[in-house]
Parts: sequence; C-alpha cells; structure tokens
Amino acid sequence: MGFPKDFIWGAATASYQIEGAAYEDGKGLSIWDVFCRRPGAVFEGHTGDVACDHYHRFREDVALMKELGIKAYRFSISWPRILPEGTGRINEKGMKFYEELAEELLQAGITPYATLFHWDYPYALYKRGGWLNPESPIWFEEYVRIVAERLGDKIHHFFTFNEPQCFIGMGFNGKEHAPNLPCSNQDLLQMAHNVLLAHGRAVKILRDTIPHCMVGYAPTGSSFYPATEKPEDIEAARLATFSAGKESWPGGIPWWSDPVLLGQYPEDGLKAMKEDMPSIAPGDMELIAQPLDFYGQNIYNSRPVESDGNGSWRLVPLPAGYPRTAIDWPITPECLYWLPKFLYERYKTPILITENGMSCHDAVSLDGKVHDPNRIDFLHRYLRNLRRASEEGVKVCGYFQWSFMDNFEWCRGYDERFGMVYVDYTTQKRTPKDSFYDYREIIRSNGESL
Ligand code: FCB
Repeated sequence: MGFPKDFIWGAATASYQIEGAAYEDGKGLSIWDVFCRRPGAVFEGHTGDVACDHYHRFREDVALMKELGIKAYRFSISWPRILPEGTGRINEKGMKFYEELAEELLQAGITPYATLFHWDYPYALYKRGGWLNPESPIWFEEYVRIVAERLGDKIHHFFTFNEPQCFIGMGFNGKEHAPNLPCSNQDLLQMAHNVLLAHGRAVKILRDTIPHCMVGYAPTGSSFYPATEKPEDIEAARLATFSAGKESWPGGIPWWSDPVLLGQYPEDGLKAMKEDMPSIAPGDMELIAQPLDFYGQNIYNSRPVESDGNGSWRLVPLPAGYPRTAIDWPITPECLYWLPKFLYERYKTPILITENGMSCHDAVSLDGKVHDPNRIDFLHRYLRNLRRASEEGVKVCGYFQWSFMDNFEWCRGYDERFGMVYVDYTTQKRTPKDSFYDYREIIRSNGESL
C-alpha cells in the first residue's frame, strides 16, 4: 500500500533561522535580533544577522530544492520585514522578497507553504506589551490581511503559528527563547488566549481574502507512546498525551490544540489553571475554533509510558545508552506512528507532519562530500512508522523534513546542524549531504525505497 499517491513530500525552514539581512532594505527589528545581543543568551554570541544569507541567495536555494525534488516548501514570513513597526507602514522591499521567493518556487514546480509566525515577533510591538496587549490579536490580523492581499495570488497554503508551546512557554516561562521575560502564570495564560484568538482571526481573514486557500496550524507538544502494544499501555499513552494538568503546561498538546480543533479548553487543564485563567468573552471559543484544512504537528520524539494498573500511566525509563541525536534528543521513531494516530482520532483533521529531523555532527569529508548515515537511518525509521499509520487509515497528507539546510538553531546558534544541505557559514557554500540524495530517492519512489 505505502503512502497515498498525492503525498506531499516537503522540507521546512524559518525566516530568522536562514534569511540573514537582518538590518537591510528597511526590515524592522524582531525580538530575536535584540535577544541575540544579550550577553550569554545565544551560544558563543551567534546571531541571525547573516545566517544562511538566504535573503540574497534564495534563487540558488530554490534551484537546490528543485534538484531535491520536494513538492512543497514550508518557510516563514518575517512579520517585521514587511511591517517594520508591526502595524501600519508596509516595507515594499521586504514584501518584494517574498513575492520573488514565491514566484521562484512556483516556477520550480514547488508549492509554497507559508508559516505566518515562526517566532520573530516585531520588537516595536513587544514594546507595546506584545501578546499581553488586548490589541495583539488585531495586530496579527492586520499583518495577515496584508500578507493575504499581497501574496495571496501566489501562496494558497498557510500555517498560522509555529509551536506556541515554545514561543510562549520558552520565551516567558523558560529562559531559552526571546524575549526571556519570565512572568506570572496569569500573564502566560492571558498571552496564550490572545495567541489563540489571533489564530482564529488569521484563519478568517485568509479565507475572506483568498478564495480556496488551505489553512492549518503547526504546534508541537510533549507526547507519549506505549512501551508495549497491550491495550492498557496504548490507553496509558493516549491519556498521558492528552493530559492537561499542571505538569503539561505550557508544553503539552491539548491546551493549545483542543480550543483550535474542539472549541474548548481541556477540562482537567481548566481545573488545574482555575485561579489564573483569563476571562473568556462570549464568542472567543467560536472564533478560535475556525475549521482547518489540515492539522500540522512538529514531531521529533516522545517518551514511552505504560499503564500503572490503576487507570493511569507511568513513564518507562529509556534504556541505558539509548540512541540520541547531536542535540541530545532521544531517537524514538515510534512517535511518528502513535502521535499521528492519536491526533487523528481526537481531532479528525488530516495530518501534516510540519517538522521532523535530526541534528548530527556533520562535516565535509576529504572526498568533499558530507556523509550522514545517522540521518538517513533516522529518516527511514521514522518514515516507516509514518507509513504504518497511513496504511492503517490515519489520514496523513504530507511530511516536511526539518530542515532543508543547516541554519541558526535559536539559543544554540550554529552549533547544531539539522539540514539536508550543509552550509559553510564562512563561505556560504552549500553542499548537499548524503541524506539529500537519499530523501530525493524516497520522494521519487513515493516511499518505496524506505
Ligand atoms: C523546532 C522549531 C524549529 C527548529 C527545530 C529543530 O522546535 O520549530 O525552528 O528549531 O525545532
């Protein structure tokens, strides 16, 4: 059986991680531009000032994507590049970049999938209170309306937010992400609600402006898989994945996905958060739960659990010396079977894997090539699990590998290499890795080569 014939094989990137040109052509500051200048915030003081210089080299990069054979490319639009103050004045040069990028992709036969927000929040709006300001969903809607009006003739596929768990959770609770502004739980929950309202407004304005557009969401979240396939362990994993108690906030799935797909916050979460909840106005939950065409999920790993024998679950420790990636994330291919299955059961919306991939200790070898057998093995293991889900009836419509090329990995700077294309940051030379050619064959054979 294998993958469906029209399966969308893709690759993903994000604006701040690849574009560079941080101070060029009238772009406004983002919170990441500012965060990177804080001593100690990012590994060895790296910044996204130049990154992969994609802003100037996008034609070369799209030519490589064409050679790779991807059918779709997921990238993000930098809000402050096109609206330097976050609202109001449009920066025409920034807009032109995305028009030309979309055009180039279409000419290469690659469908553009644009993420509207992948963390580079306009610094000007941050100074006005950012996601805490009650106007923040309206600011986002204005930005999305401009994107839709100006790019909607070329781009028909959109994701609203990438990983709200991270930009809210790790930016305002954890310290690893911009703006690193620890705040009260009450404020966190208010920001989360505003982000969800912004999502709803964005979906509406996209549909009102671009007929036949396709819209989704790209969250992540901690998830669990059953240590064995005994029914009670499967149920334990399902329970753990969708539990919304204090231990899963703000990194869990249901707090961020139930409102969007089911129109309500999870009950156990509401109980746990009751003292800190923001007020929810009439109509808010309806606005948040706009119908979506696909449900995106970024999936890298999960934890095994088993039944505790009392209707609940307990973690099963990974074995000593368990396989892990260069960034130290465990390699758990099972997650690409179980999580899409659980998500499809709960949300009944076609699934797109919006990110999955691996950081390796890649280097250019004496033969001038980049040999990355670990990444190839990772890909095959994960994709076989995804194929199983698809064969068993989970509607999985596509897979975007993270990442098309090595890039700026947030607070870890250029220390992690997630790409299928190696980037030498001194010369900006691109070298396709062995996994690039392997993925090309996976795409060509629609997964038969796995
Ligand atoms: C995800 C992010 C993406 C990238 C990968 C490795 O959490 O969405 O930008 O950093 O992790």
